Amino acid sequence: MRSKISIIGAGSVGATCAQRIAEKGYADVVLVDIIPGLPQGKALDMMESAPVLGFDSRVVGTNGYEETAGSDVVIVTSGLARKPGMTRDELLLANAKIITEVTRNVVKYSPDGIILMVTNPVDAMTYLALKTSGFPPGRVFGLSGVLDGARLSSFIAAELKVSVADVFACVIGEHGKNMIIIPRLCTAGGTPITRLLPPETIDRLVARTVNGGAEIVDLLKTGSAFYAPSAAAARMAEAVILDKKQVLPCTVYLQGEYGLKDAVISVPVKLGKAGIEEIMELELTQEEKKALASSAGAVRELIEKMKLD
Ligand code: LAC
Repeated sequence: MRSKISIIGAGSVGATCAQRIAEKGYADVVLVDIIPGLPQGKALDMMESAPVLGFDSRVVGTNGYEETAGSDVVIVTSGLARKPGMTRDELLLANAKIITEVTRNVVKYSPDGIILMVTNPVDAMTYLALKTSGFPPGRVFGLSGVLDGARLSSFIAAELKVSVADVFACVIGEHGKNMIIIPRLCTAGGTPITRLLPPETIDRLVARTVNGGAEIVDLLKTGSAFYAPSAAAARMAEAVILDKKQVLPCTVYLQGEYGLKDAVISVPVKLGKAGIEEIMELELTQEEKKALASSAGAVRELIEKMKLD
């Protein structure tokens, strides 16, 4: 039997993620949205592409949660996206309401599932889903570093004129203005970029990465990025479904790792069938540790604004 992935929210990120997963063929996909006809139409359209592309995954669209029952992974993309000039944090209270309801439904139908949060502000929404679901921390995590790292890798590869396959970018911390990029751990073919690029160039690429989501929002005007976010979410889901034990940066709940407690922030983890199977502790300098703590502090402020207790 094929694995089952449900995607909540059939907007651009959710639908493109469904397409990416279906085309790879490792899971059946249930696409859920409250708008009548939208998930059904997109799912049917995808199914009609299967004979051309040669995939056997089944894609179903629905307005309810019954069809999601027994999902291995539930990718949550529902909620409002940014408009030009908005920060991710401005979405907090509106999306908190939506995510609370979505999480309750996910738990009801997939009590043993894994939640992959995409909705922004993603660090706070991951915390909210964790607390609302009552799931163990290894089964609730968010999309951030895979996307931010992909953005930076694409910029580094273009700058050095090398294949993206040879570039590794180390991005941790909040998915927002407090993200932390560690150039000494970003490499091309194993050589740190600090030895390949002048500091001004690195600063420019770092700034562009931190502003990466907003750059796309400003260009599109009527929506936010979805090709890279959906690719990143699909890659994380695949690591779980195929039990790849891939080391990827994810937004996770820390219980003392990196000296942080009751914090949700992106750090590298081992992703496999059980979800987060290990939190990998990078060796950070004092300055980097301070930056990570202050990034976690910024997320904590958002969490407090949601008044969960
Ligand atoms: C972005 C959104 C997904 O960074 O946060 O494009």
